[in-house]
Amino acid sequence: MSDRAWYEDATIYSLDVKTFNDSDGDGWGDFTGAIERLGYLDELGVDAVWIRPFYPSPLRDNGYDVADYYAVDDRLGSLADFREFADQAHEHGIRVITDLVFNHTSNEHEWFQRAREDPESEYHDYYLWTSHPEDAHQRGNIFPEYEDGVWSYDEVAGKHYFHQFYGHQPDLNVANPVVRAELYDVLRFWLDQGADGFRIDAAHPMLMPKGHNATTLDETELGESIELFKEMRRVVEAEQSDAVLLAEADDEPEHLDYYFGDGEAFNLQFNFVMNAHLTYAVGVKDTWPLQRAEEILPDVSDVGGWVNFLRNHDEWNLLKLPEEAFQHAREYFADDAGDSWIFERGHRLRLADLYGGDRDRIAVAHSLLLSLPGSVALQSGDEIGMGADLSLPEREAVRTPMQWDDSPNGGFSAAAPEDCYNPVVDEGEYAYDRVNVAAQRGDPDSLLSRVEALVSARDACPEIARGDYRTPDCDHKETRVHRFDHEGTVLLCAHNLADEYREEIVGFDVDPDSVEHVVGDGGHSVAEGGVTFELDACDYAWLRGEKR
Ligand code: NOJ
Repeated sequence: MSDRAWYEDATIYSLDVKTFNDSDGDGWGDFTGAIERLGYLDELGVDAVWIRPFYPSPLRDNGYDVADYYAVDDRLGSLADFREFADQAHEHGIRVITDLVFNHTSNEHEWFQRAREDPESEYHDYYLWTSHPEDAHQRGNIFPEYEDGVWSYDEVAGKHYFHQFYGHQPDLNVANPVVRAELYDVLRFWLDQGADGFRIDAAHPMLMPKGHNATTLDETELGESIELFKEMRRVVEAEQSDAVLLAEADDEPEHLDYYFGDGEAFNLQFNFVMNAHLTYAVGVKDTWPLQRAEEILPDVSDVGGWVNFLRNHDEWNLLKLPEEAFQHAREYFADDAGDSWIFERGHRLRLADLYGGDRDRIAVAHSLLLSLPGSVALQSGDEIGMGADLSLPEREAVRTPMQWDDSPNGGFSAAAPEDCYNPVVDEGEYAYDRVNVAAQRGDPDSLLSRVEALVSARDACPEIARGDYRTPDCDHKETRVHRFDHEGTVLLCAHNLADEYREEIVGFDVDPDSVEHVVGDGGHSVAEGGVTFELDACDYAWLRGEKR
């Protein structure tokens, strides 16, 4: 029996119910449709799904503007459908992580409606208000292209309210104990409905000073604020001891370990530092960004774990790169029309677009990702190489329907195309008749089959989660080897990011007769004490041997 929690080396699949699979032909994906695709997720080998917000919402930020924490948007199904989804996912051995947005609500949430209507109401203090915005606490808005600042005037209240994201997303006053109690109730409710854990949206902004009395972020402030996340962990674990709390905390590298609260707050957090560097490294065919990411990341092994990823449903945020690389990535990865740049920090492109549609490059990126210690999040559609639709507004570009087959709407929905939540990609090299699950299923060389093989290889290699990890020196700047030592075995995962053949010789102190090829097309020849990897462009190869 393992004493490790399931989430310490999980493969987590991120999906949006709205765009995953539509069972009733209204153009909106739904929970019943998602249930129909659980077999697909099972075959892909994922341990958990992270379902993006599905609550009633005016959808002015894709559902990250929640109008009711206790219900399902009726276009997506009912609460009973959610429970059925969770039950059936569990039967497939797949856990369910839901997305909870606690930094802010929609301005259509009843709390905000009551807060603005009556300053005497207890709901008024659920939010942050000022009559003197010029003297109030200031900081930059997180969506700078769309919002001038963090204070907006509310005509009903006759005051300004604080919002770090869109103006229709007023920040909750999480310092108010009554608000905190509400949030804990929401956590308990969804665990009760079958959730196994939560992605907590905007965890970093949650702890930022808010309101007119706030000063600057300092250690004292941090010291007090972490209690919120510690209490969330206690609440969640009291209900379900193996439930997980996953932070979206896009903070500076030196602050990241803070969110783990010495092992008492978040169990996991997204690794935005590695994300920027890893996706960049594979695109520019050079391994230095990987080394840099590992140098600047804190060692968190005693307190929590990372969730690594290549892309997500937002912009590909480049702010964690050093200045020169940031500027380079801004130009290098831009689409031809220069239309992809957003929020002064990233590209609204999918992984396939970033790599010019090069399937081998997408595959080697997945091999690097899946052979990093920690957990992994896969973005729905990246496993088949879907592309973005830049004609859609803002980040909707990367949120088009899943492409299942070459039937109308890519098999996502039987609705008329104009009735779909977002249109399926139907033009160009990423169109659904070219890029879809059905076409790749059963073809051992397809991207889908290769990602599936990598997920399964990772499952078969306990070394990745439990072994000692290091990266032997390589002769070429384009090659990278991950080495794991675990209970008498050595696992080497070798990658070539170059567009040409590379040979790399690495120490391999194992019995040559014991060497087993785990996954990947790259060649190798083992000699006493070492192995020569023979890697064509974008090849990878994982080898395991018994230690001498
Ligand atoms: C992070 C989410 O990933 C993003 O989509 C959203 O717009 C912001 N948080 C605000 O909730």
